[in-house]
Amino acid sequence: MSEICKNWSTWLKKTRFSYMDETQVQQTLNWLLSIRNQVLLLADIKAGQKVADFGCGSGLLGFGVLEHYKDSVELIFSDKFQDCLDECKNILSQIETPYNVSFLQSDVSDIKLESNYLDRAMTRSVLVHVKDKQPCFNEFYRVLKPQGYYCAFEPIISENTRYYELVNEAQISDYQDFKLAEKEFMENPNDPLVNFSAQSLDKNLEEAGFSDVLVNVQAVASKYIPTKEAILNWFIAPPAPDQKTMKERFLQYFEEKKVDNFILEVQNALGDTEISVSSNTALIKAIK
Ligand SMILES: C[S@@+](CC[C@H](N)C(=O)[O-])C[C@H]1O[C@@H](n2cnc3c(N)ncnc32)[C@H](O)[C@@H]1O
Repeated sequence: MSEICKNWSTWLKKTRFSYMDETQVQQTLNWLLSIRNQVLLLADIKAGQKVADFGCGSGLLGFGVLEHYKDSVELIFSDKFQDCLDECKNILSQIETPYNVSFLQSDVSDIKLESNYLDRAMTRSVLVHVKDKQPCFNEFYRVLKPQGYYCAFEPIISENTRYYELVNEAQISDYQDFKLAEKEFMENPNDPLVNFSAQSLDKNLEEAGFSDVLVNVQAVASKYIPTKEAILNWFIAPPAPDQKTMKERFLQYFEEKKVDNFILEVQNALGDTEISVSSNTALIKAIK
């Protein structure tokens, strides 16, 4: 496991921002807040309801619920890992908003709640970390009351711009080797980060029994100028505490000298130059 990424709460607080300057950190935080608001809008929570933020991490959605609904809803912060629940407890101890909160250490594929219990189940960027997604949707369906909503946001990483699309053959030695390797690991059916699409999420939800399934795909295009240091971090910052870095993925195919040279060539090709990247995300709502 990487030195800079010991667990999920560290990843959420530090690793994901490790290559960003102040402006980029602020842009990312604003983007997260806008996602939170979009999920809460879909969830349309009412006073008196039971609501859970599954895979809560540091509580992006849950604290949004508290901000809007205070103690008028019963809120569960749930995560597979205790360090995340401890982080939410710590944040909670610093706020003055009245609340009605409990904590549940639980895996989303085996939720420790009785059936027909919740009015709203929410996740943000959680399924992307679970290899077999169908059991999770079955569980969300089980723990929701009839007419309960599941609302979520997931990045569709398999459709993100690839490195081989950002650089061109003239800039990279062994371009074709790296292109083939990247294509292969970005389409690996055993990799939770990339083994799904908006269509497969839709299918999972219907198979679980949900009706009125909405999987709204948004393509986000952005232009920015990465520094060489930021580009290095694309390769060495892990996408999750238990996941291989990009460099480690390429090391499955090539010796380290070749991978290091590739990283250097990508840094030289793209560093301090404006690049355009696109990423797809899915906003999800489904009713039991
Ligand atoms: C990218 S973070 C998102 C955290 C939070 N939802 C947010 O929006 O900031 C992924 C979260 O999913 C949690 N997680 C990963 N696998 C899980 C599983 N199988 N069951 C429950 N939580 C899981 C991690 O502990 C982590 O908190």
